[in-house]
Amino acid sequence: MRGYKILIVEDDLKMNQGLLHIISKQGYAAESVDSGEKALEKIKNTEFDLVISDLKLPGIDGRQLLKATKKYDANILFVIITAYGTVDTAVAAMKEGAEDYILKPFDMEELRLVVKKIMEKRKLLLSNIRLQRQLEKKYTFENIIGTSEAMMTVFKTINRVKDSRTTVLICGETGTGKELVARAIHFNSDKASKPYLPVNCAALNENLLASELFGHVKGAFTGAISDKRGLFEAADGGTLFLDEIGDIGAGLQQTFLRALENGEIQPVGSFERKKVTVRIIAATNKNLEAMVEQGSFRKDLYYRLNVVIINLPRLRERQRDIGILAHHFLKRYSAQNNKSIKRISQEVLRLLENYDWPGNVRELENIIERATLFEVSSEITPDSLPSALTTPPSVSDTEPFSKDIKSLEQLSKKHIIKVLETTGGNKTKASKLLGVNRSTLWRIMNRLKLN
Ligand SMILES: Nc1ncnc2c1ncn2[C@@H]1O[C@H](COP(=O)(O)OP(=O)(O)OP(=O)(O)O)[C@@H](O)[C@H]1O
Ligand SMILES: [Mg+2]
Repeated sequence: MRGYKILIVEDDLKMNQGLLHIISKQGYAAESVDSGEKALEKIKNTEFDLVISDLKLPGIDGRQLLKATKKYDANILFVIITAYGTVDTAVAAMKEGAEDYILKPFDMEELRLVVKKIMEKRKLLLSNIRLQRQLEKKYTFENIIGTSEAMMTVFKTINRVKDSRTTVLICGETGTGKELVARAIHFNSDKASKPYLPVNCAALNENLLASELFGHVKGAFTGAISDKRGLFEAADGGTLFLDEIGDIGAGLQQTFLRALENGEIQPVGSFERKKVTVRIIAATNKNLEAMVEQGSFRKDLYYRLNVVIINLPRLRERQRDIGILAHHFLKRYSAQNNKSIKRISQEVLRLLENYDWPGNVRELENIIERATLFEVSSEITPDSLPSALTTPPSVSDTEPFSKDIKSLEQLSKKHIIKVLETTGGNKTKASKLLGVNRSTLWRIMNRLKLN
């Protein structure tokens, strides 16, 4: 960990040098200046942990410096030094965010104790900031893994739109990372400290969803016992993530359109309109364009949502990402489960690359999590994969028609032999692949004299 840095602000030269000496001897890196202006300059260029400042200074005084420092970085701690007659002002400074004050004249021991106590507080603060950053990291950009062309385009788009207020529509099958991208846009934007509120539009019926989003007034419907603020208002200044937007009904589509067009919402049962400033990110796994053509989704709303569109391709269409994603999840779950599996065998990588991934990245994540738990060796082997990945898909449907095969019986016979070959003669596996139970397979094999 880096050493702590303390800045001393004192215009009395003797006092200034004395403080510098004591603090340096205590083991901290200390610097000193003789005015508030110089102090501010320093604070902006160096990362200080604590500022110890005299209250009375020419120009910017101690309290003004305190305000400016806290505005620049609220986590920098501040101590005021003051003469006896100005204790009231020192107390006022504490209300404004100073951690403590020291009365002049003071002895060395007193100063040391105050500094020690405050640096302990700083240590705690720093470890919290570190934890917080780790937590935020869960949604940072760097945590969206991908090296494929398609993902590069996604990253570029996130970068371009994150700080704007533009509506973004994220499209992709289930498990392709739509929510991850929505979070990345918000948490990397200049509004990251404002609320990010996700709403699943498919989870509620139309009336409930309207009241959830726009709020309602007391008596708007049975059960509306008091006024309730909607999510549009709660997310003011931040982001509202409308997940499964393709699932909202016709009535709400119209209300949405109005909200998006004029930034105005109307709580259920109210005549009053309210202005809100919310960035909308919407997501869907439906083909909205096709829905517009069929008439089940409003064209005007579609165009409103579709200002910037981010398409997340299916995992099978970005084969290059499969290996790197698998390693990413292996690292995560291996650490989480106190395992020390570091590698994925070549054979498993080949199986992963050949699989169809109907559940996309989520399915890959689940499979690697499960494999990390089941694996007993030091690398992921096929034994810890689910059978869907290890049993080859349907065997002969791609084979061209052959004139040699005269009858359906013969065809069945050939097919069963092939399946049995791929399962190494294992009849249970073969029956699964053929979609019949084991005894049926047994009977057919008997009839075809396959035993
Ligand atoms: N590119 C990626 N890098 C790392 N993790 C990913 C990536 N894409 C998806 N994931 C992970 O896969 C899981 C599913 O992602 P997410 O919930 O964002 O998908 P979704 O598209 O919203 O799915 P659904 O339509 O089912 O809601 C999450 O655990 C997410 O962290
Ligand atoms: Mg989702």
